[in-house]
Amino acid sequence: MLSIGRLGILTGGGDAPGLNAVIRAVVKTSSNAGIECLGVEDSFDGLLEANRSRPLTPRDVTGILRLGGTILGTVNTGNPFAASVATSAGTRVYSERVVEMFHKMGLDALIAIGGDGTLAIAYQFCELGIPIVGVPKTIDNDIVGTTNCFGFETAVAFATDAIDRLHTTAEAHRRILIVEVMGRYAGWIALHSGVAGGADAILIPEIPFDLAIVARRLRDRDAWGAKFSIVVAAEGAYPKGGALSLIEPAHDRRAERLGGIGARVAEALARETGKETRSVVLGHLQRGGAPTSFDRVLATRFGGKAVELVLRGEFGTMVAFAPPDIIARPLKEIVGKTQTVPMNSDLLMTAKALGVTFGD
Ligand code: F6P
Repeated sequence: MLSIGRLGILTGGGDAPGLNAVIRAVVKTSSNAGIECLGVEDSFDGLLEANRSRPLTPRDVTGILRLGGTILGTVNTGNPFAASVATSAGTRVYSERVVEMFHKMGLDALIAIGGDGTLAIAYQFCELGIPIVGVPKTIDNDIVGTTNCFGFETAVAFATDAIDRLHTTAEAHRRILIVEVMGRYAGWIALHSGVAGGADAILIPEIPFDLAIVARRLRDRDAWGAKFSIVVAAEGAYPKGGALSLIEPAHDRRAERLGGIGARVAEALARETGKETRSVVLGHLQRGGAPTSFDRVLATRFGGKAVELVLRGEFGTMVAFAPPDIIARPLKEIVGKTQTVPMNSDLLMTAKALGVTFGD
């Protein structure tokens, strides 16, 4: 076991329910191991100045297990690694300043909780000699090497509840209801909430859809008496031969913002079927609220394991869920990759066998 005096912890990327549960687990576990924990604010930006972090004791994390968001704040404006940045010591290269401050602040190791972007930055800092253990988080569940990220189950539970509510009004008015969910370039939230909510069509980025096929399936439902339908569309879904729906293209280190496919599908389905359609975008509601018990447990296990890896000196790694175990994976193996829904996914095939159309 290494002797670790001071451990930094930060959260980066879009927030996800369960971030606070990880922070709590890290602070309590390290405190019990005699390690001082420093909460670094606003992702790696918190390492630019000494006054952007604060000590965290078990007292500071009491009661945050069930809270969404992150008590440390977060940033998802891309990778600033090589950028110039204004600091109290003048204009500096971002990465050089972070490395300098990491040592000046007396840190021995860092736990970085984040999605693919944050973990990629963490890996770059590991290469510069900062001892880091990563913790994967995202509601999108698109990080390779871990079966689940915390936050995903909570997002799916929320989307499922929304679909349940839309079912009753769709049926009452004999309408087609389209529900647009998040997930970026992966269809996990759409697939899981669509199946859990009993959707008739699920549109995911992994399967470019043919709208005529979707419309035919919904008309068939009408023909046998089900005069309403529910379609779940992932924000990253797009028609065969068509393009992604964007709210905003990428700019200034900001990733492109996906959105709008639900409204487009609603318009097209109204035309194709002659039925009344409505669309709903669940948006950031999927990221808010209390984590489910599954996500609280997963986040707590991730936090505990991360401290264990720090004590073992296993840096440059990420904790991962490989049921039933929590294991360590090299960050090198996961950065720059996206875990999308495989075509042989059991859930995908089961949904198809049940008659759910994916528009293919
Ligand atoms: O990665 C999580 C996520 O919620 C995606 O599902 C979504 O595309 C994106 O973040 C939204 O980002 P922002 O919070 O910047 O709008």
